[in-house]
Amino acid sequence: MVRIIDDEQVNKLFNNLNKIPAGAVIEKKGGGFNGELTKESYKQILRALLGDADHFDVDRPPVVADLGSGTGKFLFMGAHLYKDAQFRGLEFNEHRHMIAQQFLTSNQVPNKDNIEVHHQDIHDEGTLKLLQKVTHMYSFHHGMRPVDIARMLHLCGQRGIKRIALFSNKVTLLGHCKDAQVGFDVANRLQCEQTFKVRMFAARSCSERTVFIYEIKSKELAGKHLTVNTQGIDSPLKQFARRAFT
Ligand SMILES: C[S@@+](CC[C@H](N)C(=O)[O-])C[C@H]1O[C@@H](n2cnc3c(N)ncnc32)[C@H](O)[C@@H]1O
Repeated sequence: MVRIIDDEQVNKLFNNLNKIPAGAVIEKKGGGFNGELTKESYKQILRALLGDADHFDVDRPPVVADLGSGTGKFLFMGAHLYKDAQFRGLEFNEHRHMIAQQFLTSNQVPNKDNIEVHHQDIHDEGTLKLLQKVTHMYSFHHGMRPVDIARMLHLCGQRGIKRIALFSNKVTLLGHCKDAQVGFDVANRLQCEQTFKVRMFAARSCSERTVFIYEIKSKELAGKHLTVNTQGIDSPLKQFARRAFT
């Protein structure tokens, strides 16, 4: 059963997180941003990704990574709902990372000992190490570059991660990967288990997004079939693509 420990504490935490002025979370280094998922949306995604806590293997509880973890909302909600799981966030924007870190040390976050946040670009050295023992991956990759999305899938394969929550269908994923000049056939290696809609809010509007829960069927996602096609692309991107996938 999903554990509801103290909804009041989490409501207060999210009220405080939502008070952070939009300017404070606008990126300084890419990674666009134009709204926030609702509290209920995070709950929906976590339940779809992790299922029923009663089914966790007691010797190997889930370790969940958020790639591009922002101010930590997904991680905070995760640790609130799933007391026995571990949550790890990787975020490259220093300001957003600092906000997550400050909340984590402020005693507002339930079950905070089960959460780690790291100031890390997923393309940089050290990411694979941070994904050690990770069993599930989530990314709200809105605004991320195609090469970031391809990199995420590559990392999941390398680390043997089995279940992921993303905001793209297979056709778009494949498109992203092509745009990034990366030959990457996700079609037979990702099995979509579930899709559902979640809600987002911005200053003056509400909107919906579709979430896709995938099982990774084949370790070959790790790189055997991954080729970086650097033909015809400019040299900074060429260098970047090489760095991202080696
Ligand atoms: C739309 S936000 C999602 C925040 C959080 N995961 C959530 O669901 O509320 C995407 C985040 O990814 C971060 N990001 C983009 N590219 C990244 C990269 N290469 N490495 C690490 N973080 C990245 C952005 O700075 C941004 O905070």
